Amino acid sequence: MKKLIVALLLALVPLLVVASGGVHLDDADIDVGDQGSLQRGAKYFVNYCLSCHSAKFQRFNRTARDLGLTEDEVKENLMFTTDKIGDPMNIAMDPENANSWFGVTPPDLSVISRARGVDWIYTYLRSFYLDESRPFGVNNMVFPDVGMPHVLWNLQGTRKAVFTEHEGQKVFQRFEQVTPGSMSSEEFDSAMRDLTAFLSYVAEPIQLERQRLGVRVLLFIAVFFVLAYLLKKEYWKDVH
Ligand code: HEC
Repeated sequence: MKKLIVALLLALVPLLVVASGGVHLDDADIDVGDQGSLQRGAKYFVNYCLSCHSAKFQRFNRTARDLGLTEDEVKENLMFTTDKIGDPMNIAMDPENANSWFGVTPPDLSVISRARGVDWIYTYLRSFYLDESRPFGVNNMVFPDVGMPHVLWNLQGTRKAVFTEHEGQKVFQRFEQVTPGSMSSEEFDSAMRDLTAFLSYVAEPIQLERQRLGVRVLLFIAVFFVLAYLLKKEYWKDVH
């Protein structure tokens, strides 16, 4: 039995290493209960991502309801690809074209935060750096040789990565800002936290409900515990 457990644990180790790509991931520290954060995230998503990536399991009217927006607000601020509020968040681009432009079809992002984890997404969005050898002139620290351009460069500015040699291997040291973006580094991190929170919400919209329900259930259990205890005392008082 012991051997089996050790074998299972050992089998898990490579999985953990592969999951993070061996790169340090920053803590996303998102709060999906924060509607303001989700609203800002939704805005970044439709403005900067929806041109290439769909979130086809998510409908605009559901987004409106969960994020506390009216349908008119959503139509005005979030809907550029369709005019039907009940439509899924699809893209206008033809997948064939995408394939010839990028060499790969940008994947649907409905459940990407569950596939990759929120820390990965948060780190990925903040890890683009200049690399002349790549077709779009950028590379990514957690997704080496990525086929996606640095679409947020006007917010973040451009950065280069500084590496040192260690035993013949390139070791990442730090990023250095090359040209400034319209946001400071803190503002950009916070924007990416909002966008990651939105992607986490999209992957599991029911989690908002689940958390609210969880609190109520715990409250109920606490109250019920007191009642049950009093009842028990009442029943046993004649026995003792
Ligand atoms: C110009 C088109 C384009 C835009 C805009 C774009 N992406 Fe991408 N994205 C791609 C392509 C192409 C890939 C596939 C990269 C690959 O497989 O090499 C990709 C990959 C990704 C991945 C990794 C998917 C995986 O396989 O794990 C994530 C996450 C992602 N994009 C998020 C975003 C977010 C968030 C935005 C908005 C800020 C965005 N993308 C905007 C083209 C785009």
